[in-house]
Amino acid sequence: MTSFVKDKYNRPLRDIRISVTDQCNFRCTYCMPAEIFGPNFKFFNNEKLLTFEEITRITTSLAELGVEKVRLTGGEPLLRKDLHLLIKEISKIQGITDIALTTNGVHLPKHARLLRESGLARVNVSLDAIDDEIFRRMNGRSVGVKPVLKGIRAAIDAGLDVKVNMVVKKGENDSQIIPMASYFLEQGIQLRFIEFMDVGSTNGWNFNQVVTKKEIYKIVNSLYPLEAVESSYFGEVAKRYQYKRTNVEVGFISSVSESFCSSCTRARISADGKLYTCLFAGSGYDLRTLLRTESSTQDITDMLRNVWSNRDDRYSDERCEETQKRPKIEMSYIGG
Ligand code: GTP
Ligand code: 5AD
Ligand code: SF4
Ligand code: SF4
Repeated sequence: MTSFVKDKYNRPLRDIRISVTDQCNFRCTYCMPAEIFGPNFKFFNNEKLLTFEEITRITTSLAELGVEKVRLTGGEPLLRKDLHLLIKEISKIQGITDIALTTNGVHLPKHARLLRESGLARVNVSLDAIDDEIFRRMNGRSVGVKPVLKGIRAAIDAGLDVKVNMVVKKGENDSQIIPMASYFLEQGIQLRFIEFMDVGSTNGWNFNQVVTKKEIYKIVNSLYPLEAVESSYFGEVAKRYQYKRTNVEVGFISSVSESFCSSCTRARISADGKLYTCLFAGSGYDLRTLLRTESSTQDITDMLRNVWSNRDDRYSDERCEETQKRPKIEMSYIGG
């Protein structure tokens, strides 16, 4: 039976983001800079990763506490072998109504159909430029735009709902705001502009590299007038608009300039089985040990309830020089 849980600020637990691998085939400058995530970087070995069975058990407990949305992340989640089998299991859990995936899209042509058939409903594909040269530089692996566009097409053809994420970094890809808006308006696909965030401590974040939601909005709105769209549910991350006289939407994710902690209903699980109550947390709660020491589903549910009831995170609301110095987990480890 579902028994809802609220945190210290009365926020329910509705979404879970689960990282299924810490590895990625890209080295985006803002997430896994190649100088740090080089050939000698130690990723988790297989036995550290939660198994599909373990992820399914945790998700079952989370559903009992009110979680409805599951998002699979990485690193790059499509590098995890047989991911569709996990999706199939999650889709059977009572109470889970939405299963989504965040990916760089390169492996979608191979997997989109099977993922869809297994119960995946939506994908958010990261693409930071429509210009090949800029994109190659930004993804750190010199991958062109074409494979990602192919992935987006494959996802649409498979019947998945698709959105595109563009992280905007001043001086790197802000010249791409209009070209990206034009391209995806034409395609009828929702593009979301994301403010570059100070996640982790390896991406050299600096406020001067952030292009704020307001600035991006102004650029887009001057060419393509926008009108606001009501948010579709409590805690929606993106602020959505519609291009006037079209039915195409565009979104803005403004964690830096206009934080949204007061409605944050998300928990996160890292690939090695730690539970985090904020994207900017310094430490998590070890679920893997609990799972591997004969705990019952009830024990796991109790632990999750206890952690969420004591949650008081609101990092982006409190962001300042002091908070930025705290140790923080990396984006590729926690999946955004
Ligand atoms: P939808 O369910 O499609 O709205 O997905 P989403 O936007 O929540 O997920 P996605 O993985 O596409 O994330 C888009 C951006 O939002 C990424 O940069 C995430 O790191 C950021 N994001 C998602 N949730 C949070 C959050 O709770 N806090 C902050 N600060 N950023 C978040
Ligand atoms: N700031 C904002 N968004 C980021 N992402 C990765 N690192 C950052 C960052 N530092 C985005 C990815 C992906 C999503 C999960 O998070 O591009 O779309
Ligand atoms: Fe990989 Fe996504 Fe991070 Fe880029 S943002 S390095 S694609 S996990
Ligand atoms: Fe939620 Fe933390 Fe993001 Fe605030 S900063 S919205 S509390 S994950």
